Amino acid sequence: RPDEHPNGRLHAKPPAPPPQIRSMSLLREQRERLREEVVAGRRQAVDRQHTLGKRTARERIDLLLDEGSFTEIDMYRRHQAHGLRIEEQRPHTDGVVTGSGTIHGRRVFVYAQDFTLFGGSLGEAHASKIHKVMDLAISTGSPFIGLNDSGGARIQEGVMSLNGYGGIFQRNVQASGVIPQISVVLGPCAGGAAYSTALADFTFMVRDTAQMYLTGPDVVEAVSGQRVTHAELGGAEVHGGRSGVATFVHDDEESCLEDVRYLVSMLPSNNLDLPPSAPSCDAATDVRPRLAEIVPVEPNKPYDMRQVVAELVDDGDFLELHENWAPNVICVLARIDGDVVGVVGNQPMVLAGVLDVAASQKAARFVRFCDAFSIPLVTLVDVPGFLPGTDQEYAGIIRHGAKLLYAYCEATVPRIQVILRKAYGGAYIVMDSRSIGTDLSLAWPTNEIAVMGAEGAVNVIFRRELAAAADPAELRSELVAEYSEQLVHPHYAAERGLVDDVIDPVQTRSAVARGLAMLRDKRKQPPQRKHGNVPL
Ligand code: HXC
Repeated sequence: RPDEHPNGRLHAKPPAPPPQIRSMSLLREQRERLREEVVAGRRQAVDRQHTLGKRTARERIDLLLDEGSFTEIDMYRRHQAHGLRIEEQRPHTDGVVTGSGTIHGRRVFVYAQDFTLFGGSLGEAHASKIHKVMDLAISTGSPFIGLNDSGGARIQEGVMSLNGYGGIFQRNVQASGVIPQISVVLGPCAGGAAYSTALADFTFMVRDTAQMYLTGPDVVEAVSGQRVTHAELGGAEVHGGRSGVATFVHDDEESCLEDVRYLVSMLPSNNLDLPPSAPSCDAATDVRPRLAEIVPVEPNKPYDMRQVVAELVDDGDFLELHENWAPNVICVLARIDGDVVGVVGNQPMVLAGVLDVAASQKAARFVRFCDAFSIPLVTLVDVPGFLPGTDQEYAGIIRHGAKLLYAYCEATVPRIQVILRKAYGGAYIVMDSRSIGTDLSLAWPTNEIAVMGAEGAVNVIFRRELAAAADPAELRSELVAEYSEQLVHPHYAAERGLVDDVIDPVQTRSAVARGLAMLRDKRKQPPQRKHGNVPL
């Protein structure tokens, strides 16, 4: 009762407000009612969502954006479709909440599908709301984030749903390399919706509740007789570890959305901006004695390249992409001396850090992202070569390895190569060598750079001599020593200008920081052309 004071005493009714204010308060009331209706969704469906460990679309937006920053667009929108009784249900929002807000004070545009309405399925109105925020994100140069929880194309709306997806894909592609695009999968992401996540720069998934596939388990069984669960077909583990579709996998929605915020904090708003810098607690000139301890001198002893990264970057803090897919190469975003860098590193702990099909794809896509968004590249090299074998050749390692080569060759951002221990053959060239355009190549004094290892090289070039030798073992060890002495040391490359400096391992952080400062104003225009023909 508006005339009752909270302390229980009755007050005289205030005079009626002037008509303008009355209409404003009417509008407010109406919006509140509408919000109630759409916020609550269908109570049962909301409860089900919560029981599954999922949040509603608005709860997710609240977690994602800075408090109170969300401005909703198109809350009144509802479908105009007919047939199959769909006209009996015309909820406002049409099952997707769209608008804009800020993350750490920087503008982003967002949509969040509402599974409680039509299972978050995408019809004409739903799609056109997403198109609108995508257009605004592109025209304002702001990151775009999609929170997906949907049964895919709205079956009742037929081809209009498919048309809606096409419009999203078209915009995904127009926005590619212009604004960062982030796709978050928090429930089903069936059929066409999956393509939008594949076109985004980063895809997040949550364990147990998120699934992504083009055709669901029922269709799989009908077509092939194979019985498979939703999780086995397209759960977060599958896409985070096997297919490489998911860039990040999280245990719950809270940590997932928190990491989306962290990621956004390291990205520029668009391709004309620079990534935001942040003060570091560490001095870039620090000496890092741990570096010499982490990397063993023995060339084949494994170690964790992530420990090297932690020593090199500010506050030991970094965000690793595709942690469980192609772990023989690591790709991380971090800061050095306050500025964002993309670090690519061989991982000697997995398959001795060789390059294979998946590792080449993973690193290539990361290099291209960094290049598109002005993020300098630091490449940490400790690589025995490409993985040999029929599996790899049949899977097209030549084509996939070429992607990484292509990505580095066309990158115009500042590029620094650090060769820690060894760099052999084609993998040496591909890992951002001087010949393909690195700006600064640094090498540790213990490293080996050569066409191949000493044993293999001696077997090839002295095959006849070894076969004829009275004591082949003795001759082999003599030749191996000769090869190592003459060819396998950093000064061989440094004397020829392929390594710019041989550095003390403990000084690596400061050497890289100085290099980045030196290259900060790098400008390089790629040649005029419609687009290159990257080997896909
Ligand atoms: C219309 C849909 C729907 C859809 C779900 N619903 N998917 N309505 N179109 N595609 C509705 C359900 O009827 C139900 O409505 C509510 O959403 C919740 O769905 P449930 O099935 O009860 O939920 P759940 O058991 O959790 O299963 C979720 C699901 C399942 C796995 C996503 O709904 C499902 O398999 N849906 C169909 C998925 C699909 O094949 N989509 C088409 C993909 S083809 P009520 O009223 O009962 O609450 C596609 C083509 C695009 O997308 C290709 C472009 C390249």
